[in-house]
Amino acid sequence: MRKGILSLMAVGLLAVGGLAACGNDKDNNSGNSGNAKKPKVGVILPDSKSSARWETADRKYLEAAFKAAGVDYDIQNAQNDKNAFQTIADQMITNGVNVLMIVNLDSGTGKAVLSKAAAAGVATIDYDRLTLGGSAKYYVSFDNVKVGTLQGQGLVKCLTDMKAAKPLIAELNGAQTDNNATLFKQGYDGVLKAKYDSGDYQKGPDQWVPEWDNAQAATLFEQMLTGNPTIKGVLAANDGLGNAAITVLKKQNLNGKVPVTGQDATVQGLQNILSGDQCMTVYKAVKKEADAASELAISLAKGENKTVSQTVHDPEGNRDVPSVLLDPVAIYKDNVKAVVDDGYVKASELCTGAFAAACTTLGIK
Ligand code: BGC
Repeated sequence: MRKGILSLMAVGLLAVGGLAACGNDKDNNSGNSGNAKKPKVGVILPDSKSSARWETADRKYLEAAFKAAGVDYDIQNAQNDKNAFQTIADQMITNGVNVLMIVNLDSGTGKAVLSKAAAAGVATIDYDRLTLGGSAKYYVSFDNVKVGTLQGQGLVKCLTDMKAAKPLIAELNGAQTDNNATLFKQGYDGVLKAKYDSGDYQKGPDQWVPEWDNAQAATLFEQMLTGNPTIKGVLAANDGLGNAAITVLKKQNLNGKVPVTGQDATVQGLQNILSGDQCMTVYKAVKKEADAASELAISLAKGENKTVSQTVHDPEGNRDVPSVLLDPVAIYKDNVKAVVDDGYVKASELCTGAFAAACTTLGIK
């Protein structure tokens, strides 16, 4: 709760500062303002398969924010290729970005890119994923431990609704190289451990999914289910991994009988909730994340030094990184409408074919 208020305050402050900072582009360009530079921001997104969000939400909202501020930008996607990630960063630096915003593919390559940028006098922001041991000036994300807590609580709620007795739980974690996946796990294991310890739940297979790869997740879950046919609940770290588990459960006619969690409120995840195959997802208002990050990027590009009210501790670099952390929201069937009302997903994408009836019942239009 306290954190939630803090994050709202942080965004509020940014909004006010941001307006003052962006109104002056023309003066800056004509050299009227001493140390001001014409902002050019580079953004590197991680891939387009581990979650639909990067291309359908982050790119769209970042573009809109930069356009609205009249700032030059270059948004590229590394398509899960670490060499490409570094090449894109090199090109952006050569092409004169003065701020670089990255979603790292792992902390090692992220750190190398951040150091190169610093050496070239380019300010940096860690967007969504913290680069451990890195040097970004700001970190903009959600409260990722809370994301995991909501997932753990969601699974407990769905299992309780089903009156599941001593359910055996499988965990499909994200990529071990993504600090967020560690934080999500910290959150949901915090909830589930108490259940395992009390004997209410049984701990089953628990695996990281390399690179959040959905196909590998299906293979892993198939093996989990073969080895443990009595799995009664699946903690899947995002909607893509959840869908992989659902695909496997469907083959055994177990979909809808074994609750599965998710994250990102993707169209596919929400449709799986509407059909009853997925128990919940976590909605992260990416527009707020993109807005907060782009405001900080623009201010950095202008040589300003904005203060934000939160920090996140980087255990590897042993430093407190100035941060903006937004609040995630748990979504179950009865509040899927909230995601549509927020403009994140369109009713026309969600309520297709077999899903139209559920949308009507839930008042989604
Ligand atoms: C993001 C999630 C996303 C996952 C896979 C995480 O770092 O926070 O929203 O589902 O990466 O792309």
